[in-house]
Amino acid sequence: MDETARLEVDGKTYELPIVTGTENERAVDISNLRGETGLITLDPAYKNTGSCRSAITFIDGDEGILRHRGYAIEDLADKTSFLEVAFLLINGELPSADQLEWWRQSIRYHTMLHEDLKRLFGAFPKDAHPMAVSSSVIAALSTFYPRDLDPHEPIEVANSVLRLIAKFPTVVAYAYKHSLGQPFLYPDNSLRYVHNFLRLMFGTPCEPFEVDPVVADAIDTLLVLHADHEQNCSTSTVRLVGSSHVNIFGAISAAINALWGSRHGGANQEVIEMLEAIANEGLTARQFVDRAKDRDDTSRLMGFGHRVYRNYDPRAKVIKKKAEDVLNKLGVTSKLLEIAMELEQIALDDDYFVSRRLFPNVDFYSGVIYKALGIPVNSFTVMFAMGRLPGWIAHWVELHKDRQAIGRPRQIYVGPQARPVPPLDQR
Ligand code: CMC
Repeated sequence: MDETARLEVDGKTYELPIVTGTENERAVDISNLRGETGLITLDPAYKNTGSCRSAITFIDGDEGILRHRGYAIEDLADKTSFLEVAFLLINGELPSADQLEWWRQSIRYHTMLHEDLKRLFGAFPKDAHPMAVSSSVIAALSTFYPRDLDPHEPIEVANSVLRLIAKFPTVVAYAYKHSLGQPFLYPDNSLRYVHNFLRLMFGTPCEPFEVDPVVADAIDTLLVLHADHEQNCSTSTVRLVGSSHVNIFGAISAAINALWGSRHGGANQEVIEMLEAIANEGLTARQFVDRAKDRDDTSRLMGFGHRVYRNYDPRAKVIKKKAEDVLNKLGVTSKLLEIAMELEQIALDDDYFVSRRLFPNVDFYSGVIYKALGIPVNSFTVMFAMGRLPGWIAHWVELHKDRQAIGRPRQIYVGPQARPVPPLDQR
């Protein structure tokens, strides 16, 4: 027999179905609640609300588990490349060798930006944040492909998906090049995805560019680790915005802005700024941790805590190890990595963090590694966006496949009751 929950209101009992997922997560299905009882549920910040059924990503926050389509993130980070994971998220299965070749080829074919679109970069100030530039350029891409914008036409969607994945690295690199006043390179489609990106970012037309395989490999792993994280703020943004049936470029542009905030992807930039401030101000790690605990101080220990994980973020474990490996291979020492490790140790032994179950999240070590790889600090968050792009796309595709209705939460109104507008001289 199907399980139900019982709700008693005003002496009447209502049976509410219980839905169970493949990993035995359970939810009370309230989709008919308002129709049957006149009640809505109130859950600010959606701490207890499941907004959809999804077959893309599973997280067990207590155990520190993250899986995409059933595959553990540690396994994917070890054995697959970013484009394989992108294919997995969007299409449901890992690609075969032939499919992977087709996927890489198809993405390569779309790496260039329209010459007119390139002029848009010049309209931004030199110090424009790359998240602002990329969200604008991604929204603008829609205007160049007006015949491929229907969310219900599979061929049009497939074309837009390839364009988004192919052009995003070009957009990120051009935002950086504009900030330096350097010329934009054309993509080199003989190169692999990350190699092409690194050349676009750091190459110049004057001399050949050698990609360091250690750097390329580390960036690829970072992209894999960021590729999806179920219904986080930016992905929920994609679903909410996408549910209005806007084209995919509009939904992804909105997600980039959601990711930009310091409580979300923007934390990776803030972590490095925090570590640099500690180093530059001569603070000890203990002094900073004390500040982060002080309610009268607005500082938080950036890169710590997570809405879902009440355990070590599995991505942070992989990144911490990778950061140590990469620094060793590149033969550099990092004062910032030392400070980060000291902060972590102090926080993990401190009752404030222990009692709130605050652990390092994906952003805690990613900035240290990006910095060692030469990525400019204000591009850290846009690197996160490049990684998260396939996840956003996968959720946009799933939303439409499931024919989900337009997202439209309700509210409990707490403002004034009906009253007449007083004449101007009586206000
Ligand atoms: N430093 C100090 N105190 C913290 C921190 C922190 N990093 N994170 C949470 N707390 C405290 C918070 O003050 C609150 O204490 P109290 O119960 O005394 O009021 C308690 O822990 C619960 O915090 P919350 O803000 O209600 O928890 P949340 O689940 O709403 O927030 C979070 C999760 C990630 C926004 C938060 O932990 C945070 O602001 N962390 C720092 C920013 C960060 O690293 N963000 C990246 C998240 S992972 C990648 C991503 O999603 O983009």
